[in-house]
Amino acid sequence: MAFTPQFLDELRTRVGLADLVGKRVKLTRKGREHSGLCPFHKEKTPSFTVNEEKGFYHCFGCGAHGSAIDFVMNTDSLSFPEAVRRLASDAGLAVPEDTPEERERSRQRQTLYDVMDQAAAFYEKTLRMPDGKAALAYLKDRGLSDQTITRFRLGFAPDGRNVIKGALVRDGATEEQLIAAGLLINPEDPSRQPYDRFRGRVMFPIADRRGRIIAFGGRILGDGEPKYLNSPETPLFHKGQVLFGWDQAKDKARQTGTVIVTEGYMDVIALSQGGFENAVAPLGTALTEEQIGELWKLVPEPVLCFDGDAAGGRASARAAERVLALLKPGFSLRFAELPAGEDPDSLLSAHGAEAMTRVLAGASPLSEVLWAMESRGRSLSIPEARAALQKRLDDHVRRIGDPTVRAHFSKSFRDRLWKSSPGRSRQSGIDRGSPAHIGAQAAPATKVDPLRDAQRTLVGIIINHPDIFHDVEEQFGSVGFEDPSLDRLRQALIEMLSGDSGFDSQALLAELGRRGLAESVEALFQDALLRSNRQIRPEAVNDDVQATWDQSYAQIQRAAVQAEVERQVDTDDYSEESLQRIMAIKRAELEQADED
Ligand code: UTP
Ligand code: MN
Repeated sequence: MAFTPQFLDELRTRVGLADLVGKRVKLTRKGREHSGLCPFHKEKTPSFTVNEEKGFYHCFGCGAHGSAIDFVMNTDSLSFPEAVRRLASDAGLAVPEDTPEERERSRQRQTLYDVMDQAAAFYEKTLRMPDGKAALAYLKDRGLSDQTITRFRLGFAPDGRNVIKGALVRDGATEEQLIAAGLLINPEDPSRQPYDRFRGRVMFPIADRRGRIIAFGGRILGDGEPKYLNSPETPLFHKGQVLFGWDQAKDKARQTGTVIVTEGYMDVIALSQGGFENAVAPLGTALTEEQIGELWKLVPEPVLCFDGDAAGGRASARAAERVLALLKPGFSLRFAELPAGEDPDSLLSAHGAEAMTRVLAGASPLSEVLWAMESRGRSLSIPEARAALQKRLDDHVRRIGDPTVRAHFSKSFRDRLWKSSPGRSRQSGIDRGSPAHIGAQAAPATKVDPLRDAQRTLVGIIINHPDIFHDVEEQFGSVGFEDPSLDRLRQALIEMLSGDSGFDSQALLAELGRRGLAESVEALFQDALLRSNRQIRPEAVNDDVQATWDQSYAQIQRAAVQAEVERQVDTDDYSEESLQRIMAIKRAELEQADED
């Protein structure tokens, strides 16, 4: 029986050749190629190479050469159809029957690719016409060059119900095809006509790994909901398998050996323009196992660089947990931490490429992030707490599928736990870990915690005295709290009060309630400390409020410096001399801060 060329193509792209060969031959990566001892003839020095990108292996010694299918045929002595079926079942692909119906379906898919490409070309063209003037100005205003706009094939869908429909039907597409491609919405009510899905939006084409356009994200110009409208799932587009920017990023990623994973379309595009062409993004969802698998075909340690806010922290934490089951020797993730409130796009435009390079260079390994997630804000000075931490870390370690990797994580955590015992290290009680925002879901500490009290005080002040907000906006915007419910409150308050809001305390509380934050507010004001703090009650005078603010803010700053000291002591150099030196520097900094 024959297989369709499309299916064989799909099979070849889906199977990781290096993975497949790596099960039989120990391979070492050298740039774009992997090499090892040839399985087809006896040799002592490696002349066998695997080119993952091109999808073939080649031996310079014996001339063996072929694809994944050939490899399986030759090593397992299988016929062609047997090898195909084996590979398909390993890759979780259903083998389509080569029937007339299946041939028709694959022909339809092929035409959908054409339809999507025509749509992209139409949107691109429109961006450069009078209709696209505002959209082009918007993109320029966001700092994008013509070259970048062309590289990502950005476009504009004008505001009308029959624009793309009219244009593509004129070019020979049918309404059914446009509906199947997700370009038209087909109303359930049969008396209504199908109409354009994307209206009045800047268009971001989404391509598959071979650069074929399979979907679009459409951004509203300026503010409005939804910010991005995306194509629905179609025969071409399965969201969880795709990474935005792949086609543009892959060469640079292979060259440099790194790929940067961000949250947003605009992050990928801004990074590319800023010289970081090796950036991709999932499509507004958590990173899937499939996407992690794809990334690993490109480089062994992709660097996640999610937004510096609570949501970005949660997304990192989720990826850290999800990758555990998939880990294998040499393959992992790293986690770069952006300053609070920044995404890669905003960091680049505010602070330039150098700031981004620093962020990437400071990326933490997975083990570090897990440790930080579980130990942050918790005292490690009593054995009960260390035992509890060990248990939580063990729970993560147990989920690691690969025994070698599991053993190493286990040992590393245990060593670190021992070091954290009092008397065994110079590290003091609380481990705030790093990076600062990952693992923001850690349970709140229940004991007296001056840092937490200071953080609560700031939030309480803003709620009771919203008029002070504009004087302290920058400070409040830059702090970032570990406790997720407290940080949600902080962010909601910033959102509400930025600009000319006119919110008074009463209106703030009502709005917080509408946003589902009533419980967090209640928890905050139930706190004995806040209840008893006369300086921040609604009736307190402004000077008292400001003084309390300053005090609490300084305390938070001090804690940050302290955490930094602990981090340095913990990771760098344990010698007495270096410790004394760091402490002296930090003491001076603290004194300086107190004087300011
Ligand atoms: P962001 O809002 O961070 O996107 O959402 P961004 O690219 O930085 O957008 P700008 O800079 O404000 O223009 C991250 C990603 O989540 C998805 C998109 O994939 C977006 O790039 N998203 C976001 C949606 O699908 N729909 C939305 O309404 C918002
Ligand atoms: Mn963003």
